[in-house]
Amino acid sequence: MSKTQTIVVFSGAGMSAESGIKTFRDVDGLWENHRVEDVATPEAWLKNPNMVTKFYNERRISIIEATPNEAHFAITKLESISNVDIVTQNIDDLHERAGSTSVHHLHGNIRYSKSSGPNQEREYYRIDGFELTESDVCPEGFRLRPHVVWFGESVPAFENAAAILEKADVLIVIGTSLQVYPAAGLIDFAQNAAHKFIIDPKADILSVPDDYRRVSAKATEGMLGFFDEIKNMLSDE
Ligand code: OAD
Repeated sequence: MSKTQTIVVFSGAGMSAESGIKTFRDVDGLWENHRVEDVATPEAWLKNPNMVTKFYNERRISIIEATPNEAHFAITKLESISNVDIVTQNIDDLHERAGSTSVHHLHGNIRYSKSSGPNQEREYYRIDGFELTESDVCPEGFRLRPHVVWFGESVPAFENAAAILEKADVLIVIGTSLQVYPAAGLIDFAQNAAHKFIIDPKADILSVPDDYRRVSAKATEGMLGFFDEIKNMLSDE
């Protein structure tokens, strides 16, 4: 079996839903219970950094306590038959903990912090415990903030992610409502992909071009049902 083909997985919050991590826009999703502008914008940080820090500390705790689900593991297993690159909108590290080796975070990684000063993207600092506190500062003395992209901020990882999507032979979009830009626009870069799939319970109504195969299922069911098929597909080519 050749490893000359590249599968690119583009994942969103639904990927981790079966690990017990809340999605954003489903019923009882995070944005139903929190106002975005209070916790996930640069303005919120300026106004009330403690509240923002607390919100992300809570997210970090639930992520650390969660474990990868069968869909994360199935994606890791794809590495035995193909090159696999994951571009994730998720700030959790469940792909990595499932053993995937090439994971690119578009919206940051909750296990890390960064300076709230002018050199935010220069360095990311691993957070050892569950919490960031008021006294955590970068070497230049600015308070550390979570390494996440907030609404209204640019997405520094976008360009690299677009280059990855361009190289996809197979694209698997999984667990994302494709409502947040620029992230959702990334799928337009997968022009060379001969096979494109979207796995999501709402796959039938999500906005993707006609050449996508729509798999209306949860991430685990969708990925497991799909594994042998994708394996056969790659070995036939
Ligand atoms: P959303 O909450 O917008 O969408 C979650 C998607 O997951 C929906 O399409 C659901 O149908 C689907 N879903 C729910 N349960 C699922 C399951 N068990 N298996 C598979 N799919 C399931 O989340 P995202 O599209 O990831 O950004 O949201 C994108 C961005 O918006 C996030 O990265 C975050 C958020 O605001 C930032 O924080 C910058």
